[in-house]
Amino acid sequence: MKIGLIGSGGREHAIAKALCKSPAHDSLYVYGSHLNPGIQKLAASSINGEMQDIQKIRDFFTENKVELVVVGPEVPLIAGASDSLRRKGLKVVGPSQNQARLEGDKVFMRDLLRRRVKKGSPRWKEVKDMVTARAFINEVGQVAVKPVGLTGGKGVSVMGVHYHTIEEALEKVQAELDQDGIVLLEERLIGEEFSRIAFVSDGNLSAMPVAQDFKYAFDGDQGGMTGGMGAYTMADGCMPFLTKEDVLDADSILQLTVDAIEAESGESYRGFLYGQFIATAHGVRVIEFNVRLGDPEAINMMALLETDVPDFLANVADGHLQKDKAVFAPKASVCKYLVPAAYPQSGHEKITVNLNEEEINKEGFSVIFASIIQKSQTMETLGSRALAIAGVGDDPYRISEKMETLLDQIEPSSLRHRKDIGDAKIIHEKIQKMESLRSKVY
Ligand code: GLY
Repeated sequence: MKIGLIGSGGREHAIAKALCKSPAHDSLYVYGSHLNPGIQKLAASSINGEMQDIQKIRDFFTENKVELVVVGPEVPLIAGASDSLRRKGLKVVGPSQNQARLEGDKVFMRDLLRRRVKKGSPRWKEVKDMVTARAFINEVGQVAVKPVGLTGGKGVSVMGVHYHTIEEALEKVQAELDQDGIVLLEERLIGEEFSRIAFVSDGNLSAMPVAQDFKYAFDGDQGGMTGGMGAYTMADGCMPFLTKEDVLDADSILQLTVDAIEAESGESYRGFLYGQFIATAHGVRVIEFNVRLGDPEAINMMALLETDVPDFLANVADGHLQKDKAVFAPKASVCKYLVPAAYPQSGHEKITVNLNEEEINKEGFSVIFASIIQKSQTMETLGSRALAIAGVGDDPYRISEKMETLLDQIEPSSLRHRKDIGDAKIIHEKIQKMESLRSKVY
């Protein structure tokens, strides 16, 4: 089978590896924004272009007679890539433009939950003027200020975390109103976040192990928000700070949301649905939905996935997914992104990186390339998350410890990473935090 892939980050390198593991894979055609050295090794052909350039995407895949396309990032989905490719008869893993509003329009998402899902949201308000904003903050107390559209995970600011006063929150609101004329305010939620992602096809869901992404730039959740510095999963596919009810609740919200978006759009949803949830003392709430695989979570998921990926994804694209069909190894996983020192600020592009991938593989870890390109014998970073190291094992603590020993020796001096992803003490603190929050509810 000729398989197409859109995107060239770490998520897409992880997907490409999973697609090419299978003997069934014929050849991989990649439409990306840069030439990812890891993907390049696997691709029969690749081309660079804008992620919104639907015509160029469609022409590349149709001219190469690709049969199945997996869409990595959200931008082409929101621009209508799936619709355009399906009209040409290609099988696509990725929802329609209409359905991608779940990620591209946060007010639409909250309103859909209110109208059809009827659970999972904090108190929220679509705000177009300062009077409404002030009244909502006075009513709920601390709030999250969220741009309505895409922000690459970096646009949200939270009162009590990023600033402390109502006036500072209102300044953020004003800035968003100046820019977009609209902003979403949500009651601030206290708890632990987790990612639950599912393959979705015609109303059937097959869930992946629960993961936790580390969104802040530095250890101890310090610094700015990033696209995600790394993630871990546990061998039982759950998180030790969650109850069984939390996971059932998240899964029920995912199912109801798929039912809702299919009813709303009048189309089958075929692709990934990623629920970014938070467990609170009062139950599970939705932070946001993404209509794609997570990055970094895809790195964990693809490392654990045992199912034959091309066949499985072709079934997803065909509407033939049977419930709970994807099989994941009963193992824990950890991945950590190595990023330029200034990340998430820009300004540290073009760092030269020399990395001995074989040496890393010998230690039992894999390398996932992201925002980096090959320059003859070395590589050069492009400014964002450069590459990730990923490992699978019995528990995240030992994977993380071993990874730290390795990174002490091999990490290029101009890159940095979070040491605390998968760390035993940090996970224990999360368990205690949730126990303490729950113990205060009568
Ligand atoms: N893990 C965050 C994201 O993929 O948006």
